Amino acid sequence: MTDTRNSRLPGFSRLSTEARLDAVAAFAGLARADLAALESPDNGLPQAIAANMSENNVGRFSLPLGFATNFRVNDVDYLVPMVIEEPSVVAAASFAARLLRAGRGIEATANNPIMIGQIHFPEPPPAPILEDALADHKAELATVLNALHPRLVAAGGGFRDARVRRLVTGDGEPIACIHLHVDVRDAMGANAVNSMAEAAAPLFEAWTGSRVGLRILSNLPIHRRVAVEGRVALAPGGGDHAMDPDEARRVVEASRFAEADPYRAVTANKGIMNGIDAVLLATGQDFRAVEAAAHAFAAYEGRYTAMARWRVEGDDLVGRMDVPLALGTVGGITAVHPAVKANFKVLGTTSASQLSEVVAAVGLAQNLAATRALASEGIQKGHMRLHARNFAVQAGATPHEVPQVVAAMVAAGRHDMQGAVEALAAMRASR
Ligand code: MEV
Repeated sequence: MTDTRNSRLPGFSRLSTEARLDAVAAFAGLARADLAALESPDNGLPQAIAANMSENNVGRFSLPLGFATNFRVNDVDYLVPMVIEEPSVVAAASFAARLLRAGRGIEATANNPIMIGQIHFPEPPPAPILEDALADHKAELATVLNALHPRLVAAGGGFRDARVRRLVTGDGEPIACIHLHVDVRDAMGANAVNSMAEAAAPLFEAWTGSRVGLRILSNLPIHRRVAVEGRVALAPGGGDHAMDPDEARRVVEASRFAEADPYRAVTANKGIMNGIDAVLLATGQDFRAVEAAAHAFAAYEGRYTAMARWRVEGDDLVGRMDVPLALGTVGGITAVHPAVKANFKVLGTTSASQLSEVVAAVGLAQNLAATRALASEGIQKGHMRLHARNFAVQAGATPHEVPQVVAAMVAAGRHDMQGAVEALAAMRASR
């Protein structure tokens, strides 16, 4: 798939908020009014709806929303909505996406959206009673479970298979569980899978005479993964479109460190999740589920390791990541939250798989940006500049005054609130 949209928007970060919104609307072929929810202080989410979303509600809660520029994934350009309070994450993603788009862009492939439902047998029947019950009744099971979700089946999803797993607890007791494999198409899948697991449980109790314990989705969607690859060309001196080979070598060294050491891996992975979670929040996803799965998968081989891996291959620095992503573009708050709906209009993704490819691309780009910065000048310099901007705003600087106040704070090496107050006062006094 190719398109004509161009997310390479030079100077976007220097525009006013108003002008940025105009640029986002123009990119997406939308009227400004279509993005009204992004401008409104409550993101268009009325209190009456918020009050019914979760309990003991007293209001709504805002966080900064920005768009990462430069993303090109599978030959399609994206402006990617990111909700995050941490300075430098959106800038870092945009920077790395610019480097990556100069080559082949980022390539990502999502596989089948299969989720797992677990049916737990705390006192399982001896083998092969459970195994035989499943083999004898699999067709009936498929009919019963698919009848619960005719719309999912009509969309091409539904029950796919089931397996028996026999386990031993830490106390040495044998237990078992059945895994239901369900193709959930564009849904995150928790509702479909939980209802199937609950419906299947009494059937298995009747077929085996054994009591069922839990019936619940597994948040480790081992079959629902995205493989993402990004390439940066190597050229002496680097620049906007390439990386210096020495710098690339340091990125590889840093990658090897994270691959070898869980203490470093968890920090590198946290950086990846900075990007992933920010897109998940902006698109109304269950970010807790994705976090849990990402870290479980990073330890799947029995040792916690880096989610991404960078190597020099020929004339390129190549990054690869394989990440489980259970995302939904139907259900949840995707059809309810006005800002989420506006963000989807800008993204232009048409399926959960496509969304997950973009999310994985942002995670990989984030890792490249963080690793490159850490392996060269460190991250504090960039962070401090952005912190200085926050303090300048809090000190009362107008948007017009902020750049000058920040420049004065950086020059004085003062990146705190007092530094901002003094720089602002000095600037106003000198007028
Ligand atoms: C900070 O939020 C994320 C980093 O620590 C990630 C990393 O170390 O790779 C910069």
